[in-house]
Amino acid sequence: MLRLAIQKSGRLSDDSLNLIRECGISFVNSSLKLKTESTNFPLEILFLRDDDIPGYVADGVADIGIVGENVLVEEGKQELVVERLGFSKCRLSLAVPKGTDYTSLQDLQGKSIATSYPNLLQAYLQEQGVEAHIHTISGSVEIAPSIGLADAICDIVSSGSTLISNGLREVERIFKSEAVLISNSNLSEEKKEILAKLMFRVHAVQRAQKAKYILLNAPNDRIDEISRLLPGAKSPSILPLAEEGWSSLHSVVNEDDFWEIIEKLKGAGAQGILVVPIEKMII
Ligand code: PRP
Ligand code: ZN
Repeated sequence: MLRLAIQKSGRLSDDSLNLIRECGISFVNSSLKLKTESTNFPLEILFLRDDDIPGYVADGVADIGIVGENVLVEEGKQELVVERLGFSKCRLSLAVPKGTDYTSLQDLQGKSIATSYPNLLQAYLQEQGVEAHIHTISGSVEIAPSIGLADAICDIVSSGSTLISNGLREVERIFKSEAVLISNSNLSEEKKEILAKLMFRVHAVQRAQKAKYILLNAPNDRIDEISRLLPGAKSPSILPLAEEGWSSLHSVVNEDDFWEIIEKLKGAGAQGILVVPIEKMII
């Protein structure tokens, strides 16, 4: 049995649960329970405060965890990272009240900044040669300026809506973060095997998220040219159409470059192009 710690509630928790489900791992999830066991995979899930996850994994209370890089780096536990997961992207930013004049970081010299990330903030200020008073608070950082606790804040921004609803303006981005999978460094052989099985599934899901299945029709005399444009898993599948002289080509393209490829495909004579999502991808 492998113990996975994920965030109980917050930006990361839904994305983490989705990943587990996409890996075909079923479990009963009640918002009241802090622990659940999968019904079809040797995995136990603990629902914890994200700030506590790196410590629990380092101490072996949980074997693995999903946590924001921001929390991990703040706590100086980067060595626990097994893999970057590519979701729950966010940034740690400095923000000031909307009406405040701000032209450069120098404007914060001698000012006070509220944050839950004193280490990351301190390192950044030092690197930039600015001295400010850091007020460390554990939550509701965004209200600090309006209650007179600080001149600025340094907090996680994702959509930016929390800043807007608190009358704040983002002025510097100091750290980029995403979800990472972390692991205790002394897993038993049995646990390592379960983790390897889990990672096999995670990779299949991740690969599929980037890839799109593409289907198109092409005149037979254009097949070579079009095939060269389709990188695919291997080479495209080619099926004859009922209409004489035409074929259907099937392949896989990367999401990042499919718009560019599609322009070229059209230029080469492709018609009826369909792009569809892929659920799992094993190579
Ligand atoms: C962060 C931050 C804000 C919110 C910003 O909280 O403290 O409250 O996300 O998101 P937005 O830009 O989309 O509005 P987080 O999810 O990290 O939870 P925690 O600070 O309570 O642990
Ligand atoms: Zn937190």
